[in-house]
Amino acid sequence: MTAVLQDKTVVLGVTGGISAYKAAEVCRLLRKAGARVEVVMTPAACAFITPLTMEALSGNSVATEMFETTAQSHIGHIELASRADIVVVAPATADAIARFAAGMANDLLAAVVLATRAPVLLAPAMNSNMWDNPITQANLARLIDTGRFSTVGPDAGELACGWVGAGRLVAPAEIMAAIESRLAGAPDAARAEGALAGRRTVVTAGPTWEAVDDVRFLGNRSSGKMGFALAHTAAMQGADVTLIAGPVALATPAGVTRRIDVESALEMREALRRVAMQADVVVMAAAVADFRPGVRVLGKLSRRDAHPAAARPARTLPLVANPDLLAELGRARKGRAPLLVGFAAEVGVSGEALVARARQKLTEKGCDVVVANEVGKAGLGLGAEYNAVTMVFADGRVVDLPADRKEAIAMKIWNTITTFYLTPADASASNKSVPASAGLSPISPGKRRARRGRKGNDV
Ligand code: CTP
Repeated sequence: MTAVLQDKTVVLGVTGGISAYKAAEVCRLLRKAGARVEVVMTPAACAFITPLTMEALSGNSVATEMFETTAQSHIGHIELASRADIVVVAPATADAIARFAAGMANDLLAAVVLATRAPVLLAPAMNSNMWDNPITQANLARLIDTGRFSTVGPDAGELACGWVGAGRLVAPAEIMAAIESRLAGAPDAARAEGALAGRRTVVTAGPTWEAVDDVRFLGNRSSGKMGFALAHTAAMQGADVTLIAGPVALATPAGVTRRIDVESALEMREALRRVAMQADVVVMAAAVADFRPGVRVLGKLSRRDAHPAAARPARTLPLVANPDLLAELGRARKGRAPLLVGFAAEVGVSGEALVARARQKLTEKGCDVVVANEVGKAGLGLGAEYNAVTMVFADGRVVDLPADRKEAIAMKIWNTITTFYLTPADASASNKSVPASAGLSPISPGKRRARRGRKGNDV
């Protein structure tokens, strides 16, 4: 844990959901990290966890009522809004999110959220259908578009209401990591001047898990590190970053605007449907499973099911093809933005053969750039700290990025993309859609910084 929370004032808003009890642990961790914690509870939250518990853990009186006759007056409570370095709402119910999005101030927490100029981090928790409901998603998008709100989670899994899906409050440690990231984000001024300032980027990362039954899945060895490094370095250069993460054990990088956690390829497709077409650049770094089990067994597939006593043949697992998410985007954009950057993971293929494979994927999937890497080499690629990649562009250019830490490779990938595709004037324009025929228009060679050839490129 870093010192970023030392002496910071965190307003911890708690709304009325089953997971409200987890706010107690968040409060304890915040205190442990050196923060001053002011807890504001909605009346519904008090039905799930007592103000007394939060008072004991925060070391401060807990504000619940908008209009109190005690020394802590209404104005005093609202004053929390100006003292806060960050407002964290955990759990944030669908109802709370709706009220924040509507600009309501009908309870103390909503009033503080409306009045504060501090960043607001929401940790949503609700029934999965409520989460998936376009109304909830539109409310969240409205909040996020203000630039002040970001989210952490929710997780997918079994919910307290018995449903299975996205909607579970993320673990307190993950909320802490997101708070630290948000507070430690690059200074606004520096980000505003970054090469990606005003650009909306979507980065997918990690593996997908394709459920066989309730406990088993088909997956792959992707750690998500390359995608997370791309999300981080884009944010550091001023981009608005949506990170769509498969199941990985990584904290949200500093500066990332929103993170959507998914498990399967179909969930990733849903997340992309919500955000990809509004983006300027989509980077598909995720190792999406090409196939999923044709049937999902409820409960746990038993050894006896697979090898029944009657000596029937061992069970085979039928597989069906997953959609190719990148190719779908390539078709859907119809020559417009976003710029599409795919990855190509190849085993035992290098040099010209790697470039040829990348070029084939580029054409088949209709993208602008393919970042090819040879996976399976010791210390490089899937799961490793280092990577070495070759970028293949639709206009035929090829750029080699020799082995380096994934964060450094990510920075060079963005540098190459911005140099090839964004003129300085474009790059400084704020909230402007990227002009595109097929994605962004390549800058004419005259405008481009002189580059060396295919080998030993200096990006
Ligand atoms: N990809 C995707 N949807 C899939 C499979 C892959 O969007 N169902 C994307 C990946 O995110 C990556 C690119 O396509 O950006 C290439 O992925 P890769 O696994 O290298 O290639 P495949 O298309 O799966 O081809 P193959 O497995 O035959 O190499």
